[in-house]
Amino acid sequence: MRLLLALLLLVLPPPLREYFSASHLPKDAGVGSELHPVVLVPGLLCSDLEARLTEAYKPSAPRCGAMKGNGWFGLWKNASDLAANDYVDCFLEQMRLVYDPAINDYRNLPGVETRVPNFGSARGFHCKDPLHPKQCVDYVREGLERVGYRDGDTLFGAPYDWRYAPPVPGQQSQVYSRYFRQLKSLVETASKKHHKKVIIFGHSYGGMVVLDFVRNTPLAWRNEYIKHLILVAPVLSLGILIQAQIIAFGPNMKFVGATQSSLRTMWRSFETGIVDLPSPKVFGHMPLVITEQRNYSAYDMEDFLVAIGFGDSVEPFRRRMVPKMRYFKVPMVPVTCINGVGIRTAKQLVYWKSDYDRSPEIAYGDGDGTVNLISMLTFDKEMRRQPAQKKQFKSVKIHGAEHCGLITEEWAVKRVVQEFLEANRISS
Ligand SMILES: *[C@@H]1O[C@H](CO)[C@@H](O)[C@H](O)[C@H]1NC(C)=O
Ligand SMILES: *[C@@H]1O[C@H](CO)[C@@H](O)[C@H](O)[C@H]1NC(C)=O
Repeated sequence: MRLLLALLLLVLPPPLREYFSASHLPKDAGVGSELHPVVLVPGLLCSDLEARLTEAYKPSAPRCGAMKGNGWFGLWKNASDLAANDYVDCFLEQMRLVYDPAINDYRNLPGVETRVPNFGSARGFHCKDPLHPKQCVDYVREGLERVGYRDGDTLFGAPYDWRYAPPVPGQQSQVYSRYFRQLKSLVETASKKHHKKVIIFGHSYGGMVVLDFVRNTPLAWRNEYIKHLILVAPVLSLGILIQAQIIAFGPNMKFVGATQSSLRTMWRSFETGIVDLPSPKVFGHMPLVITEQRNYSAYDMEDFLVAIGFGDSVEPFRRRMVPKMRYFKVPMVPVTCINGVGIRTAKQLVYWKSDYDRSPEIAYGDGDGTVNLISMLTFDKEMRRQPAQKKQFKSVKIHGAEHCGLITEEWAVKRVVQEFLEANRISS
């Protein structure tokens, strides 16, 4: 029987072969009751946000102040509900952040307090787009449950306030200092419960959150508690071109039921709006934005922000994002990075008449539809530059997998789950 299975495995295509051998032979694979705990960190927009309005809040329209003094309510929980309750414009206002140059940090509007509910649960966040309700690592969670993981026991989730960008060591962030403390204690609790180190998973923006979390912990702590990082399609501060398009035009959040220009105003107030713009390290002097008058490369991002009418962001960009772009310290823990490739991905935006309110003409290159291949390759190169990290770095490129497809397409999810089993198997 064992021999037959072994022969069968030989004739299967490699990814399937690995999945079968791992999931059908849990004992051989060294998993089962021996699982290393997992913490899932989802991508942008996934985590819920709750708000509480105090007397200090000065709403632009009286009805937006209706919840004053009424305690916590779901501000970002159910996008369809916003329109149903005629709350969309109030939502757009109460979500806004302001940059405070005195502390070089972002915060909520005066009188608006926010918090992220359900910290700790792998089921505590979900996609708000009714057309794609399962785009927030649901399938990965289900795949892990199939191989024996249980929410609250071996499986956890760490939702975060995605309006803010995670800081690199040395930077202040009130919101993330609290979040990193919570995540640290979650990892310690999970680890002590099972006497095992913890695997932390991040998809997309969550990949950057995970990486910056680990880099902000003491090395001795990492060695004691971190088994492995699994980063799937991480969006890192090396930058991606699509961020330039989003900051110019606004995010693709039509399901909220707001106009594009009002979504853009909200988005531009977020710290997330100006993080991940193309960095010189990856994009060099390549013309990224082309207009009749002049071209913008990664060196010209400040001028680009001014050109799109967002000069206010130059100071926070310079003071918070440029240091982040230039920071590159490896985490010194085992890392597996999984990316999709072979999908057309914007590499150049043409706004010939400098009309940034319209969609640009786009020239395409390689990537996962969101992350440029050159950003992925620069990350791989940086990880391998440091010999001690190189030994514990694995890069997996999956042809034909899109940025979100990696966590929604069945075949890609199997491949991702395979990496969890692989990480469990490695002895350390
Ligand atoms: C979201 O809100 C809509 C409209 O109010 C409602 O029909 C739907 O059931 C809600 N969905 C969830 C998951 O609560
Ligand atoms: C901008 O870049 C394009 C494409 O590389 C090039 O053909 C063009 O001459 C450049 N324009 C200016 C004004 O430098």
